[in-house]
Amino acid sequence: MCGIVGYIGNNKDIALGLEALKRLEYRGYDSAGIAAYDEATGTIVFAKAVGKIENLERKLAGSSIGGSPILLHTRWATHGEATEENAHPHADCKGNIFLVHNGIIENYAQLKQKLAERGHTFASETDTEVLPHLIEHFFRGNLEEAVRKALSLVKGSYAVAVIAKEDPGKIVAARLSSPLVLSVNGSGGFVASDPAALLAHSNKVVFLDDEEVAVVRQDGFSVSDLKNNLKEKEVTELEWSLEEAQKGGYEHFMLKEIMEQPESIANALRGRLLLEEGKARLGGVEHLREKLRQVKRMNILAMGTALYAGRVGEYMLEEYAGIPCEVDSASEFRYRKPVLDEHTASLFVSQSGETADTLAALKEVKDKGGLALGIVNAVGSSIARGTDAGVYNHAGSEIGVASTKAFTSQLTVLALLALFLGRQRDLSLVIGQCIAKELSRLPELVAKTLESAPQVEEMAKKYKGKENFLYIGRKYSYPIAMEGALKLKEISYIHAEGYGAGEMKHGPIALIDENFPTVALCPSDSVYEKMVSSVQEIKARRGPVIAIATEGNKEIGQLADDVLYIPKTLEMLTPVLSVIPLQLFAYYMGVLRGHNVDMPRNLAKSVTVE
Ligand code: AGP
Repeated sequence: MCGIVGYIGNNKDIALGLEALKRLEYRGYDSAGIAAYDEATGTIVFAKAVGKIENLERKLAGSSIGGSPILLHTRWATHGEATEENAHPHADCKGNIFLVHNGIIENYAQLKQKLAERGHTFASETDTEVLPHLIEHFFRGNLEEAVRKALSLVKGSYAVAVIAKEDPGKIVAARLSSPLVLSVNGSGGFVASDPAALLAHSNKVVFLDDEEVAVVRQDGFSVSDLKNNLKEKEVTELEWSLEEAQKGGYEHFMLKEIMEQPESIANALRGRLLLEEGKARLGGVEHLREKLRQVKRMNILAMGTALYAGRVGEYMLEEYAGIPCEVDSASEFRYRKPVLDEHTASLFVSQSGETADTLAALKEVKDKGGLALGIVNAVGSSIARGTDAGVYNHAGSEIGVASTKAFTSQLTVLALLALFLGRQRDLSLVIGQCIAKELSRLPELVAKTLESAPQVEEMAKKYKGKENFLYIGRKYSYPIAMEGALKLKEISYIHAEGYGAGEMKHGPIALIDENFPTVALCPSDSVYEKMVSSVQEIKARRGPVIAIATEGNKEIGQLADDVLYIPKTLEMLTPVLSVIPLQLFAYYMGVLRGHNVDMPRNLAKSVTVE
């Protein structure tokens, strides 16, 4: 996610702001920028740079940029690649208003068109840039009044900080679904997207809530809603160290990112659901809409966790879009003799967008003139740039080496793609509406599933001494069994096998005894009864069973040794929920075994070598 810092006070040296911004580098970013009000000239000066903050510092070296208030930003690209033009801050036509933003403006295209019709000109590809121009449209000398009017027209998510040379004594800040915190202390007034940026100055902060607008001055602040009704806000005294603040108060980035999944899935869905039409709006593939209508076969290629997301996608695309799919590890596909024709599309799934094997498979497809699509998290990454079209996850940067929120956002985007392609084919309006509605419920269902974390932690204590696990599932749960086993392997270093439950009798059942627990994915779906049989076979051999089941299912509790419940949803979306207890189980087992769960041994966040 992007990093925001705003400061207003007597200190005109931008080093203060840059130091605060560096506290947010851990969030991952690909460009940075600064804007400062220079009282001597009555103007706002700014600088931006692609890459790391030191590139911005090199640009600033020798310049006289300084002043107060100042805004600083690190950008994790969502709309528009990492370029200076797309870096924040963004300004209005007259260079009066400068703004930094974290979030996604869903209706930016419509707003941009209306502003352009009124003569506004734009310099970037970003959704953010519509905001300073919209504020300019309403600006009559009072910045917060203009910000309130502008934001009342905005749909999506935002944390913004704004300054204006024609109303200079303040920073105006506002939030909707994207965190923002402020502090007024001995150093002056601060605004930030994350308390980590402020802790060097004060641990007393005020967290803004949705649809609140703050006016921060060097000696005080006020908060109102979008209708200018004043709000009383309590000051929170944080007991966090800097490192804890960067982890949002969680012990590890992995747990923070598991807990962030309601938000990351909401971001994957943002602006992409057409509930009435029962369709998905996928801007990144719209230009290939007619070509995609002709697709008759899909290769899905990825590695590791992304491969397991692709395997779930196979079921979705076959069942709801009627497109035969073949899923393969990119490391295998790149050495095969792939048969591609004009009706074959190849879908590349990758969080980092830099995985060497996936990139090599992409090159193989492109060399053969194949149609390449991407589901990628890192905007502007090699895989994203190498495909003909694609859909970004918008999951924000994933710091933990083990992929968690990126995985569930991959599943969410695959469901959107299945809906998009299905409604081009014979998927009905009614079924499309049902899928779209249930997709819109996913963030709340994920939040409900996360409530089982304390139960999972207790269960991990019961099983922490086990050295082997079997994970089994069928149909949509088969890839989740493999992903759950991978999570346990890579975080706790315990040996774990993921299998289709139907495979049990063809060998793996020989492993089962009282020391070899099995995690069985048993949601109430089309293959539930088959899973009950598999669990019975395991129990008949004294194997301990941990069942993941749909809430309300009492029967499975009579059979399994432990049950973790998930809410009921469509069979095709159940993997988004059923993987969460498995992520948590792997996390707690790794912590109990004393491992570095954010950076497990031998692993890299992005495997850029073969
Ligand atoms: C995920 O937990 C693993 N760290 C790893 O398998 C990862 O999914 C794989 O390397 C693919 O990475 P990508 O999604 O960035 O291409």
